[in-house]
This record gives sequence, C-alpha cells and structure tokens, in this order.
Amino acid sequence: MRRIFLCLAITGFTLALPLSAQSIQFDQARKLWLLTTAHSSYAMGVAPSGQLQHLYWGPALWRIADVPAASPRADVSSFDPHEMLENEEYAGWGGPRYYEPALKITRADGNRDLVLHYVSGNTDGNKLRVVLKDIRDEIEVTLSYTVYRETDMIERSAAIRNRTKQQITIESAQSATWYMPPGIGYRLSYLSGRWAAETQLNREPIHEGMKVIESRLGHTGHNFNPWFAIDDGSAEETHGRVWFGALAWSGNWRFSIEQTPYRQVRVTGGLNTFDFAYPLRPGEILQTPEFYGGFTDSGFGGASRCLHDLERTHIAPHGLSARLRPVLYNSWEATEFNVDQQGQETLADKAAKLGVELFVMDDGWFGERNTDKAGLGDWFVNKKKFPNGLDPLIEHINKLGMDFGLWVEPEMVNPDSQLYRAHPDWVMNFPGRPRSELRNQLILNLARDDVKEYIFSVLDRLTTEHKIRYLKWDMNRTFSEPGWPEEKPEAQRELWVRYVLNLYDIIDRLRAKHPNLEIESCSGGGGRVDLGILRRVDEFWISDNTEAYDRLKIQEGFSEAYAAKFMSAWVTDVPNTNGRTTSLKYRFLVAMQGALGIGANLNKWLTEDTELATKMVTLDKRIRNTVQNGDLYRLLSPRTNDVTANQYVAKGGKEAVLFAFRHAQQYKTGVAPIRLEGLDPRATYRLESIDRALLEKNSVLSGAYLMGNGISLDLIDDYDGTAVLLHRVE
Ligand code: GLA
Repeated sequence: MRRIFLCLAITGFTLALPLSAQSIQFDQARKLWLLTTAHSSYAMGVAPSGQLQHLYWGPALWRIADVPAASPRADVSSFDPHEMLENEEYAGWGGPRYYEPALKITRADGNRDLVLHYVSGNTDGNKLRVVLKDIRDEIEVTLSYTVYRETDMIERSAAIRNRTKQQITIESAQSATWYMPPGIGYRLSYLSGRWAAETQLNREPIHEGMKVIESRLGHTGHNFNPWFAIDDGSAEETHGRVWFGALAWSGNWRFSIEQTPYRQVRVTGGLNTFDFAYPLRPGEILQTPEFYGGFTDSGFGGASRCLHDLERTHIAPHGLSARLRPVLYNSWEATEFNVDQQGQETLADKAAKLGVELFVMDDGWFGERNTDKAGLGDWFVNKKKFPNGLDPLIEHINKLGMDFGLWVEPEMVNPDSQLYRAHPDWVMNFPGRPRSELRNQLILNLARDDVKEYIFSVLDRLTTEHKIRYLKWDMNRTFSEPGWPEEKPEAQRELWVRYVLNLYDIIDRLRAKHPNLEIESCSGGGGRVDLGILRRVDEFWISDNTEAYDRLKIQEGFSEAYAAKFMSAWVTDVPNTNGRTTSLKYRFLVAMQGALGIGANLNKWLTEDTELATKMVTLDKRIRNTVQNGDLYRLLSPRTNDVTANQYVAKGGKEAVLFAFRHAQQYKTGVAPIRLEGLDPRATYRLESIDRALLEKNSVLSGAYLMGNGISLDLIDDYDGTAVLLHRVE
C-alpha cells in the first residue's frame, strides 16, 4: 500500500506522520468511519441504539482508534433530552428533537414522527454510502459521501426513498448537517447583497439561537449566496481554523446556522423549507443537492483555495482540461438593444484589433426586441436588424479570428411576444390572480416537461444552425405567483424543485449534443452563482455593476467561494453605475483578476485608449494562466484598507502576479510595503513591473524577503493601480 506522509507542526517539531492512503477507513468492531483528506478528517459512528452520530471534523487524524465510539448521552432534565446533546449526522423530525431537522415528513394518515437509524454502510474507493431507515416504516435515506482528498473537501447529499405503500409528503429535505467541535466563540462569514451589489462579505459572532440565510426567490439569488465559513473566532486570511461549505443548487435553498444551549454549533443546509411540500409516491426518490464541506487551519485564504481547486478539478465542465477563459467582448453596455449587423461588425473589427478572442452579441437581436418591453420568447432573428440572418455576422467575426457568442434568456417571456400570445398558460401563475411582471416579463414554467422540451428545441436549433461557441444565459427576474395549475394540487409545489432539475436537464443535453458549446451563467448580474450551475457552465456574470472600485468588494466576496477563472469581469466606460470615473488602466487591472472581458463602446475610444487596451490584453494573455488556474492570496482587503492587494501564484510556483490598488490617498502618504505570500522562501524571483510603480531597487529578490519585508509600490493617486509579475529564477 502506498504511504503518504503528512507533516504536522506541533510545538516547534515538524513530525512526518504516516497517513493511510485510504480516504475512508471503517472500524468494523466499533462501527465507525474516518474520512480523511490531505489536511482534514471527518468521523461518524453508529451508537448502540442505531443512531448515526457525528464524531469529529478537524485537522487530519492518522489513528482511527483515537476517535471514541458513538455512545448515548444521558438526559440532563425533562427539558433537555439526550437527543439534544447527541450530534445526529442526519436527523429526522421525531421524538424529542427541537433543533433544525434534516428531514421532516407527513404520512398519508397524518403521522409525522420520523426517527432514522442505521441499516448499512458501503465503501467504494473514495465514496461511502450509509443507509438509514425509520425505526418502524420503510422510509429510507441513503447518505452519500465523496472524499476529495487532494482538495480537502467532502461532498454530502441524501436520497430519500419511500418504500412504503402510502404516499408521504416531504416538508424538509436537507442535504446535510455539519457540526463544529463543541464550544463557543465561533464566527460566521457569509455573502449578502442585492442587484448590482452582490457578494458582500459579512463576518459576525455566532450566539445562541438560529441565523438563516436563504433564497425564496426561485433562483440562487442576489441577496445571499449558498456559501458559509465558520471559524473559531481567531482565524485570519493566512491562518486559523475554518470550517466552510457550499451548496450545489440553483433554486430555493436555505442554511440554518444554530448554536444550541449545549454549546454546539451546527449548520443544516439544503432545499428551502419555505412553501415546500414534495409528495413522494411509493417507490419514488428525492435526491437532495450536493453540499460540499471542508476544514482548513490555513485561514480564510486556505478555505477559498480548497474550494477553487475543487471547482476547477471536480465541478466545472471539462475539469482541469478546460481551456483558459478567452478574452471576451460584449456589446451590451455599448449598444443596449440597438444591435444590427453593421454596428456589430464595426465593433467586432475594433475588438479583434485589441486581441479579443470571443465576441458576444447581447440582448436585442431577436423578435421585436427593441426595448425590454417586448420580444422575449421569440428566439428568431430580427430581420430588420439582420436582413440575412446571423450567419453573415458570425462569418465576419470568425474571419477576424474570434469565436461568436450570443445572449439568450430562455426561461422568460414578455407578454408582448408571439410566444406568450400562443401559450399564455406556459407561464407560472395562480389562476384568477395577477401575474406580476418584473422588467416587463413573466417566467415560463420550466417544471412542465412540454415547456422544457420547447426550450431545449429552441436552443438546440440555434446552436445547430449557427456557429455559436458561447451562450450568455440570462435570467432577469425572481419568481412570483409560482403556480402550476395543470398539476394536482398536492403536487403543485414540486415546481420549486422540478424547475431547477429541468433547467439542469436542458443545459446537460445541450452540452452533450454540442460538446464545444460554452455557457455563461447570468441572472441580472450574480443572481445565479452556485456550484450546481457551475457543473454546467464555464463562467459566471457576477454583477451588472462594472464600476471598478465597487467591483473590488464584489470580487473579493465572490473569491471567498469561487475561483477567478469563472469570474467574467469587464472593462467598461466611465462614468459607470455609481457615477465614478477611474482610469482605463485601473479598470483593466481590476478586470484582469478574473476572466477578462471588455464591455465598452469601442467607437468612443481614443487612439491612446486603444493602444493601452491592446497592451493590457497582451499582458492578460501572459498572466491569465496564473490568475485563472493559480492559488489566490488576498493580501489586503478593500473592506479594511485603503489599499487592496491580491496575489495569484501559478501551480508549481514558477510565476506569480501581484495586483495592488490605492483608493484614496491622504496627505500624499505612501503605501507601506506589501508582503507577499505563497512563495518559496529559499527561491529568488525576478520582478517585472508593468509600469514605474515598483520602487524596489533590486529586480531580483528572495521569497524570504518578499514575504518577510514585502515590496514597495508608488501608489500615490486616488484610484491608482499597478501589477507586478514575479518569475522564479531557476
Ligand atoms: C441583464 C444582464 C446584462 C445584460 C442585460 C440585457 O441585466 O445582467 O449583462 O445582458 O440583461 O438585457
């Protein structure tokens, strides 16, 4: 058996401990599993009663014998039953349990008690399945665990199966409950926001009681993102114990973060319980979304890097063989709905000269789509704007050496459209009630299979008939009146789940049929950013706010959970969104921290703008492998400093790039040296400044100095920015 050695630094000693190469160990005698990644372990076991108990989640263990077997606890009082002190891995709502359950059901006869006990466990490589069952009825739950050893993550989900002869109704189906080690003083980090101000990072103490973050909006939502991090109260970017997780679901989701009266912090997450009632007929299964969890003692930065690696390796399409994101141009902010062949060709000519590789035509190309009031749903080309269809434009773009991408919003319909006039029943609605319009549009009920098939056929036709490399898939409103009148009343609320599953099904089939097709997930900016959609898309549009300074905070929050590779980031014109004006260089540097795009009106650019942009695009192509596939170190946060600094280190450590931004100088005070991270202290690095802002006299410095002392930059103006490339000297 191959043996891996794990280095542990304990009170000054560095010990090389043998670590079993097995990701999952089972202690048969004590019915106890130990799941181990490169730097963490997770344990659970079966108590004599049959209860499956969580036992450990923290730094890697190498000895399963150290973990005590699951055991019953005693009642503290008639108000504090033992169940409240036992950390059940996946608790049904039944008996005296008052915390957030993982599963709650009602039987056909009204009986709602559900107590889940262990039946069997089965390991297959890095996967473990544990079957639980109600103590009386054939209501079964299969818990799935996958250990992603090298990225330090564990994937969990639950499949609920009705083996009884009666229908049951599921009122809560959670993917997992995660337990922190018992204790107090924990802090919660989460992302909140709104349209054009997404993914703002919050960090607050956890006290007794429950905090809920969720979406009731039908999609993932701008208001909260399905990610959390909990630290022991002392973690920082570079160090400290952090437990974190992210849910792979693009519909209504919910995390409840509880601290019980017994000093136990637990996080339960999965499908939102709000307006939830899912009938499970005899023989049927409900599979919950995957909930990924990880532990690190490398602080918030370490937690982010685990997630980034997981996404690039195991979640996003094509995994590590996916191509680097190309430099993109998008016409939206330049033209809005006024697209036509001549105008797009002119922009394409200019974009190609800058070095753009993918030209995306945004909204306005179809039906009677001249404003946002009409045309959605009519996915045929507007002949006034494109008299000979899309192909002449696509050919023009391809001849310029660029791929062609197209904006679509397939889930939506304007009442003023041919589609709505033909199928008014296709939208979600409650009969006899108003149909609330947002941005003048209604939502097609994708939960209906006929609607799903129609949307698939429209997109399949478009991508078959035209050379479309990329779809920007938009979704520009939240759900309202989510009725499904054609279904039986008791099944109508399945819509919340079936809509998302059918959305996934459309994209999966489309990608299977068109393997070169790439997709950007957009929902009025960052309304659909999650690991569920990332399984099927190549990029996220993270915010309609493209103003560079605002963007620094939005990008910081995004980076907590998601890798730079998936972050579409555009350079646009100024003043923008909030009225602020920053230099073109600053805007480029902010956008180059993700997948670079340009969304400006190139017709308005001066020669000097074009020259600068061409240089920046060339630079981006040199560093994008480091940014997109490398390790991110957030050195200085825009939340707490007047300087923001982010560093990306390429895998293997040969290249690195530092981005630094000054927000507002006062008294002409200079910037303190910025200390780098993630370098080899014993190696030397050649520094390459993109401008004159690097103040160091030596152009070659050691990793020890770069990390110990840092480098000095001349950032003296408001909204100043620079980048320094580091090349390891062999
Ligand atoms: C949404 C998107 C924008 C743009 C418009 C088009 O707001 O987020 O990028 O595509 O729709 O209508």
